[in-house]
Amino acid sequence: MQSNQVRLEQLGTYPFERLKALFSGHIRNIDLTPIDAGAGEPRLPLPSFVAETIASNLDGFSKYPSTVGSPQLRQAIADWLEKRYGLQHVDAASQVLSANGTREALFAIAHALINPEANPKPNVLMPNPMYQIYLGAALTAGGNPVFLPCTADNRFAPDLEAVAESVWRNTALVYVCSPSNPTGWIADADYFTRLLALADEHDFYIVSDECYSEIYWDEKPVGLLQVAESLGRDGFSRCLVMNSLSKRSALPGMRSGLIAGDAQLIKRFAKLRSYTGPATPLPLQAVAAAAWSDETHVQDHLAVYRQSLQAFFDIYGGIDDGKIPAGSFFVWLPVEDDEAFAVAAYEQQAVTILPGSYLSATDADGVNPGSGFIRAALVDGPERAAELARRLCAVRI
Ligand SMILES: Cc1ncc(COP(=O)(O)O)c(C=O)c1O
Repeated sequence: MQSNQVRLEQLGTYPFERLKALFSGHIRNIDLTPIDAGAGEPRLPLPSFVAETIASNLDGFSKYPSTVGSPQLRQAIADWLEKRYGLQHVDAASQVLSANGTREALFAIAHALINPEANPKPNVLMPNPMYQIYLGAALTAGGNPVFLPCTADNRFAPDLEAVAESVWRNTALVYVCSPSNPTGWIADADYFTRLLALADEHDFYIVSDECYSEIYWDEKPVGLLQVAESLGRDGFSRCLVMNSLSKRSALPGMRSGLIAGDAQLIKRFAKLRSYTGPATPLPLQAVAAAAWSDETHVQDHLAVYRQSLQAFFDIYGGIDDGKIPAGSFFVWLPVEDDEAFAVAAYEQQAVTILPGSYLSATDADGVNPGSGFIRAALVDGPERAAELARRLCAVRI
């Protein structure tokens, strides 16, 4: 068993730090207004209820917030899940927790669910490219990350059938990201059904990161709990989902999300969280309850994201070649050399985007499935999306 120190050292530099290092020594074109399409930070107006809800809950700042979430927030989350996914019943007290943003929850869950010392099943499967937190979680929890390559050949689906039987046998946890950051792929009901069957066969847990569930081009994404219930499974066994107000409600600074699913896993996670204590301040939990209870602002945001995608691809082209993402607000575009393209976009067009290789791990065969792609976030509305497309088309390397 490796020490914590060694495991921490296995972690690479976080993508945004790498980007800073890549740009150092390069000068941004100062004749153009900069466009920052690097981070996945929605930049939409605050929903109208935010200020008034904080104002009427100010006394909450003089109390310690509960880590599991206020009863009102947990009930609002349970109600949302039932409505959004047509679920019969979600029990707020035993099947729901508040997250202080899903980033911390996605990280901490590996520490609650895998124990390679007591249970010799160290494998943690994850898409590649991926939201980097899954990798950090797997490594620091003492797990063995196993990468499921997501390539254009398999329409960016993490290929379950390519996983060897011996790998499944030693799997403790599988992370799914649907809609996916960065590729925009969406898991369908068949995909979740297959994964659930494998989880039963090989005795592992599934954590489904559904943070972009309300941002989609065409069909509304299905969720893991929805598929689990449709299969007649009892109590969402083996399943946890995470979702966030950062994307759906454009409130990334509020640090609020949800964790829901199997009551036994929720109980185990709540125990860990009672020590690590990641709690959202009570006035913000009140805003979160309001945000999960309102769909108007979510529909308004969705309309802006769709207009942005349309405006981008009207200029960039490729809407009929599968370039438009099924979900999320990222575009994942093939280029010849992703680092060189990112530097050229910065120097020539004052645009910040992420090289795809920074969001991917190099696998045992030396292949990095993110190299040869760039990720750009369409988070500034349709006009800026169109301008971004014009500038990316003009990049020369
Ligand atoms: C796929 C994915 N999951 C989770 C998160 C974390 O979001 P938050 O911690 O703001 O809820 C992000 C943020 O960019 C993300 O892209």
